[in-house]
Amino acid sequence: MKTKIKNFLNKKNKRKLICLTSYAKSISRILDKYCDLILVGDSLANVLYGMKTTHNLKLETMIDHAKSVKLGTKNSLLVVDMPKNSYKNPNQAVKNAKLIIKKTGCDAIKIENNSYNLNIVKALKKSKIDVMGHIGYTPQFKKKFKAEGKNRKEQIKLLRQAQNIEKAGAFSIVLECISKKTANKITQLLKIPTIGIGSSNVCDGQILVTDDMLGISGFYPKFVKKFVNLEKIIENSIKKYKKEIISKKFPNNNNSF
Ligand code: KIV
Repeated sequence: MKTKIKNFLNKKNKRKLICLTSYAKSISRILDKYCDLILVGDSLANVLYGMKTTHNLKLETMIDHAKSVKLGTKNSLLVVDMPKNSYKNPNQAVKNAKLIIKKTGCDAIKIENNSYNLNIVKALKKSKIDVMGHIGYTPQFKKKFKAEGKNRKEQIKLLRQAQNIEKAGAFSIVLECISKKTANKITQLLKIPTIGIGSSNVCDGQILVTDDMLGISGFYPKFVKKFVNLEKIIENSIKKYKKEIISKKFPNNNNSF
């Protein structure tokens, strides 16, 4: 097992795992100082490209962004999302995961899980590719947003799914928008770390879309906390820039040759 993965796993039960998304070097070089894991999430389809869903995102787009993120990542575990349709069968999944790793130098890949793709996790593991699972609200496979695990039937289904993903060889699993009670049961049941998004503080770690928590995505569901309103700060800076150009305050002699 790779040292970075081992170090990540060793933190379970010692302290919470800190995870965030990044789509470019400008952010990953900052995250790298504080995060255990950086995810190049396919949420970039919505956040950067204004797509309604993540469904039509190209593998090449994920690779290009991951290359940039890698430039700023030295210490954190770097995980890249496989876009929908890039892992429709085990052979395709292994071929594309190898391509992502070769082109980007990432440490692991993440797939979203449904009831049918456990064989993908197994095939990746068999090919010595470290894979992270993702259950609950999985935007690649679900049309409508819904929190999950609130009733007994859903809870049993999610527990079974999580257990099977661990057994298939995933090194960690994202729990997205799963009720606190069910997220807790999954976290207690599994040996691998659970990383929550909208799944309360009972998970082994947390992840958010960085653009959301910085307040620049324009999309703030209930589970997002804006840690800063960067949009306001950026806007004020641009206003100041405009004003200083018009008044000829910028560039001054210090900025000129
Ligand atoms: O695509 C993404 O950013 C994700 C995180 C929200 C976990 O999958």
